[in-house]
Amino acid sequence: MSDAVQTQSNPNAAFKPRVFSGIQPSGGLTLGNYLGAIRRFVEMQESGIETLYCMVDLHAITVWQDPEKLRHNTRELAAGFMAAGLDPKKSILFNQSQVPEHAQLGWVFNCVARMGWMGRMTQWKDKAGKNAEQASLGLFAYPSLMAADILIYHATHVPVGEDQKQHLELTRDIATKFNHDYGVDFFPITEPVIEGAATRVMSLRDGSKKMSKSDPSDMSRINMTDGAEDIAKKIRKAKTDPEALPSDAKGLEGRPEARNLVNIYAALSNQSVEKVLADVGGKQFSEFKPMLIDLAVSELAPISTEMSRLMNDPAEIDRMLGLGAQNARAIAAPILEKTYEIVGMIRS
Ligand code: TYM
Repeated sequence: MSDAVQTQSNPNAAFKPRVFSGIQPSGGLTLGNYLGAIRRFVEMQESGIETLYCMVDLHAITVWQDPEKLRHNTRELAAGFMAAGLDPKKSILFNQSQVPEHAQLGWVFNCVARMGWMGRMTQWKDKAGKNAEQASLGLFAYPSLMAADILIYHATHVPVGEDQKQHLELTRDIATKFNHDYGVDFFPITEPVIEGAATRVMSLRDGSKKMSKSDPSDMSRINMTDGAEDIAKKIRKAKTDPEALPSDAKGLEGRPEARNLVNIYAALSNQSVEKVLADVGGKQFSEFKPMLIDLAVSELAPISTEMSRLMNDPAEIDRMLGLGAQNARAIAAPILEKTYEIVGMIRS
């Protein structure tokens, strides 16, 4: 991972490498969040680059959240981060609303980004659907706040799953337009880091749909709070096709459910899809699923146990988030000040 950061052509030579990413506390964590994002977060933390990871509670309220559930989900997300290996001594872990500079820079970016850009975002179209008139203004401006999350730290790299790619392109557009409009080289052009076998984990019930915390069917996803029995049940019932597994990746074409389970296996076992298929090619799902269950349970059940242990002490989680926010503000505040100066605000 550090190679990805260090060797690609670098439009941000003037900026210190810094990693930022965020997850919404709008429901429980899924296997998709874990494989597409959190595992990458941990790898980047271990590579020695400065890393900041945020629970984006301001983004969560772009659709209504029950206040008590939001507080609970934010703590649970923090517990999930730590249980999966993020260490508050190595990474800055915090919730977005405790660092007001995000919203402040978000406003500036609302004045830089164009309505047309926002209207083209596929997540806006999916979430607002035909009912755009009734969607919140915050949901429309969501990607502009996301750009602020990243750029308030001059972050150069952002690990995410595939579904965030378009938002990250927009972040680059906002940085470019700001730099151009004010004749500066102030914001970096952030690189998305979308890597690994599981950048898009699909629903266990329908291989054409993304695994999502908002899917009405709990059987469609593995939650990071699921214990061994639930994990086993969901994999056992996962949709498949009647064919045996192929021995190379080409054989997965047109078989979205088979592809998904193989990708999950590859990601969980840190192997390439090719290597997995070389081993399991020719097996029936009745043989492959128990292998996947063993692997998933051994990897995920300890995380779920650790999450519930951490959730027994919510005050400790809140204390950790408060300290994280202080450290985040120490980076964000001078960048916001400089931004205000660039755009012509009096600072007295
Ligand atoms: P969110 O909360 O929907 O998801 C958090 C992270 O998990 C990834 N992810 C997946 N990866 C693979 N397969 C899946 N099925 C899957 N589902 C989710 C997402 O790609 C993401 O990386 N807008 C962001 C939150 C955000 C953010 C940011 C991210 C706000 N500000 C700044 C990066 C930088 C979101 O809604 O993620």
